[in-house]
Amino acid sequence: MTPTSGISVIRAVSQLCDQVSAWRGQNRRIALVPTMGALHEGHLALVRRALEICDRVIVSLFVNPTQFGANEDLDAYPRDEAADQAVLGELGVHLLYAPTLEEMYPDGLVTPIQVPELAEGLCGAFRPVHFAGVATIVTRLFSQSSPHVALFGEKDYQQLQVIRALVRDLHIPVHIEGVATVREEDGLALSSRNAYLSPAERAIAPLLFATLKHVAAGIETGGGVGELIEEGKKALLEGGFSKIDYLEVCDAETLKPVSRIEAPARVLAAAHLGTTRLIDNVAVKVG
Ligand code: PAF
Repeated sequence: MTPTSGISVIRAVSQLCDQVSAWRGQNRRIALVPTMGALHEGHLALVRRALEICDRVIVSLFVNPTQFGANEDLDAYPRDEAADQAVLGELGVHLLYAPTLEEMYPDGLVTPIQVPELAEGLCGAFRPVHFAGVATIVTRLFSQSSPHVALFGEKDYQQLQVIRALVRDLHIPVHIEGVATVREEDGLALSSRNAYLSPAERAIAPLLFATLKHVAAGIETGGGVGELIEEGKKALLEGGFSKIDYLEVCDAETLKPVSRIEAPARVLAAAHLGTTRLIDNVAVKVG
């Protein structure tokens, strides 16, 4: 283990397994917060919650190539490991696990993990390899670090549901905790990709959350799902978004589109501002 900026950093799977076995031998409760780095307050909310509920917190930092499509932003994805180490050290995180590509994929992409149904709609329809990449890396991180709890942001709601399903279906003994989205004062959900927005795009970006809230509130007060979705799409395009991948109302668990609200539901959207794709979602209250 290399202590850097007050935090221990491990890059090899074998060293991680040794550390985790030692902690398990001391009956420590272990949390894992998987990240791709470029940490912002959204990630730090996951870390703070992990520190509240567990004795030992591991943050993983790995920009996972298998979850990026061929024309996506893998090369441009923001990276600043020194800054990430410093902030995690200040928070009191016990271990930063920052494996190399060779450690994570020594034989390339063998044994991929798929969660077909949940991964097909919404973002999955536009990013065909994304959720298999996420499911594969998260399964590897779980088997390497054997955490009691793993924490993920609700901002990536489809990802959270995919991970809940893989844990359930593969009987992985880890509790998945979803943490509420952290937002800027104007409502924009924090995301590492917000750094790509020009000042003009940044000014338009909060319209995504405002639109989702408008759709959810309309449904809660008896409005029609189809009409509210069409209104929401029109508002986004008129407000300056260049393209909408989807704006849908879905069952909160299965992520199947719904036209009437009979169980907890979620309004989810992905829309483009120039070359930046933003996603967000809000709950629809029932009853
Ligand atoms: O949400 C992310 O940052 C990534 O998808 C994750 C869960 C760390 C897997 O690479």
